Amino acid sequence: MTDNLDGVRAHYHASGLTERLKTALAALGPEDQRLMPEQLAGLDQFHTRGLAATAELAGLTGIGPDTTVLDVGSGLGGPARFLAATYGCRVTGVDLSEPFVEAADYLTERTGLGGKVTFEAASALALPFDDGQFDVVLLQHVAMNIADRDGLYIEIRRVLKPGGRFATYDVVLNGGDPHYPVPWARTPAESFLLTAAETRTLIEQAGFEPLVWQDDTATAKAWFAQLRASGPPALLNLGVVMGSGFAGVAANLGRNLGEDRLGILTAVFEAVPGKAWQEA
Ligand SMILES: C[S@@+](CC[C@H](N)C(=O)[O-])C[C@H]1O[C@@H](n2cnc3c(N)ncnc32)[C@H](O)[C@@H]1O
Repeated sequence: MTDNLDGVRAHYHASGLTERLKTALAALGPEDQRLMPEQLAGLDQFHTRGLAATAELAGLTGIGPDTTVLDVGSGLGGPARFLAATYGCRVTGVDLSEPFVEAADYLTERTGLGGKVTFEAASALALPFDDGQFDVVLLQHVAMNIADRDGLYIEIRRVLKPGGRFATYDVVLNGGDPHYPVPWARTPAESFLLTAAETRTLIEQAGFEPLVWQDDTATAKAWFAQLRASGPPALLNLGVVMGSGFAGVAANLGRNLGEDRLGILTAVFEAVPGKAWQEA
C-alpha cells in the first residue's frame, strides 16, 4: 500500500479554520482574554474520549517537567497544550495539515502557552529533527492515516533517545471492513488500518519493547453510548473544525466499534537502548 499524503491533507484541509475558531470562541469572552486549555477540550482533542484519553495516556507514559515531548500528528494542539499546562514540560507538535498548524498556533497564543509549546507543518514520515532528540513521542489517532507503518515507527524510534518512550492511542482493525466515512477518512483511500497484533509487531521491529498494552475498545464503546444518550453536543465541538456533518461521521466510528469491526488500542513502548533503528 502507498501513502496518500495529498488525500489525507485534503481530508484535514479545513479552510478558514482559524477564523471559524475565532468566531466560535467569542462565546468564551473577548479575543484578548486568556483561555484555559480545558475550555477548548470539546474541539481540540481530536480522538475518541477526548481529554480523558490524553490524560490517561500521559499518566501511563510518565511525563515530568524536564521531559521533552514530540506530538506526531498534533492536530489542533490540544494534547500538547494539556501536557505543557499539566506537567510543565516542553512539547513540539508536527502535523501534515497547514490549517491545523496555524489553528494550533492561534489556540496556543490564546492560552498563553507559547513559551512551552510549538508546532510545525511536517510529515510523520520525514520528521525534521535530529536523531535521539526527544524523551517521549506521542501518537494519538494518527497511524490509521499512514500506510508506511514500518517507516512511521522507525522514524519515531530515530528521534527518540535510547530508553525514551513511545505512547500510542490508535484505532485498529478488529473483525471486518469499517463503514465509511469515519473521522479520519471519507473513503478507504485515506485509511490504512492494521490489527493490534500487526501494529505491535511493526513497533517491536522498529526497536521497541512494550511497557503497557491495553485494549480500550470496551471503554470507547461505553463512551460512545454515553454520547448518544446525552443529546446535542456542547457549543464548542469538532463540528467547528470539520464541518457540521461531523457528529454523524463520529457516530460511524461508534457503530464500527459496536459491531466489533474496529477496536481502540492504548500502548506505551520503550526505545530499547542498543537496538537502534538502523538495526531493526
Ligand atoms: C484524528 S487527528 C488527531 C489529532 C491529534 N493527535 C489529537 O489527538 O488531537 C489526525 C491528525 O493526524 C495528522 N496526520 C495524518 N497523517 C499525517 C502524517 N503523515 N504526518 C503528519 N500528520 C499527519 C492529520 O493532519 C490530523 O491532524
